[in-house]
Amino acid sequence: MQTEHILINDPAEQAEDIRRAAGIIRAGGLVVFPTETVYGLGGDATNAEASRRIYAAKGRPSDNPLIIHVAFPQDAAKYAYTDALYDRLADAFMPGPLTVIMPRKPIIPLSTTGGLETVAVRCPSHPVAHALIAAAGVPIAAPSANLSGKPSPTCAAHVAQDMDGRVDMILDGGDCEIGLESTIVKLDRDEAGEYLTLLRPGGITYDALCCVCPRVAVAPAVTEMLSADVRPLSPGMKYRHYAPATPVVLLDGTPEDVLSYLQQRQAVESCAILCYDEEIPYLRPERLLPVGARDDLATHAHTLFSRLRESDALQADVVYAHLPPREGLGLALYNRMIRAAAHTVRKIQR
Ligand code: TXA
Ligand code: MG
Repeated sequence: MQTEHILINDPAEQAEDIRRAAGIIRAGGLVVFPTETVYGLGGDATNAEASRRIYAAKGRPSDNPLIIHVAFPQDAAKYAYTDALYDRLADAFMPGPLTVIMPRKPIIPLSTTGGLETVAVRCPSHPVAHALIAAAGVPIAAPSANLSGKPSPTCAAHVAQDMDGRVDMILDGGDCEIGLESTIVKLDRDEAGEYLTLLRPGGITYDALCCVCPRVAVAPAVTEMLSADVRPLSPGMKYRHYAPATPVVLLDGTPEDVLSYLQQRQAVESCAILCYDEEIPYLRPERLLPVGARDDLATHAHTLFSRLRESDALQADVVYAHLPPREGLGLALYNRMIRAAAHTVRKIQR
């Protein structure tokens, strides 16, 4: 398949390009588009054949459900049974990097939800995503636009590496601002009332969610390794993800101890290092992959997936990275990095 690449600087001025992209979606084709989190591989969420094409293009098992993207928060009610808690979340965080899982309405086919009776809904804030969904007039099902098992793409060059020849069109909207996929919560209810289960941490933090809903449970798979016999709440959590070809090892220790460990390792092995800016003057320059200043979690999130892709090109034997803190945006980084490292954490003590 021939893939058309279109640079979108301003969706308002490029209405004709957006209209053409929307026409492809309505006709059952696939369009990759930018969002504020990562690039999405989009197709008509109400069209079972389009969902099948998405799974095929991504090389993804079809029991792993897709997120459906809507142009306005209130559109969720057309596709899912929303409630008062959804309305509060929408008021607080939408449009933005939050996905909410709710009971599915029949208009969304089971092939889109991986056979589940629930559906994940997100209203992205990126102007190109918004313009495309609004012009398509249908909800757009979109997983991250990477081949299954690769880090999610955060720029059009990474999309092209994975999706050229597999989709009809790629809309290039530059770098994704956040760089990690959306926060996913499930609306739940028990005898004590409503609560949220956090299935995937992202740009909307645990603390921010707690301001809207006093009860937020964190699914075990967010921080722990699931044993093979456990069925995760979110099917995607069971798949190996975000993993570069080179093994990743996370280092846990004081800044001084970890730096001195890295210096020692550089002397004896070919290692790539996802390092903090403060460490650069003290390390050999080869195969350094800076992720921003130590306290700058937003830059770390913004650069992480690019750095993981770059690490593969360096032909190192191992990639070292810091174990992130679990607070704030750190929890999302922690979740992605322990999976990239297949839970390999080395405790460093001098
Ligand atoms: O930021 C994002 O969310 C990006 C952009 C493109 O919007 N999309 C994204 O989609 O990350 P994907 O497919 O790569 O990840 C969606 C995750 C998967 O782990 C999937 O298992 C889970 O959401 N999911 C989707 N629907 C679900 C449902 N009904 N119940 C439980 N988990 C669900
Ligand atoms: Mg993904």
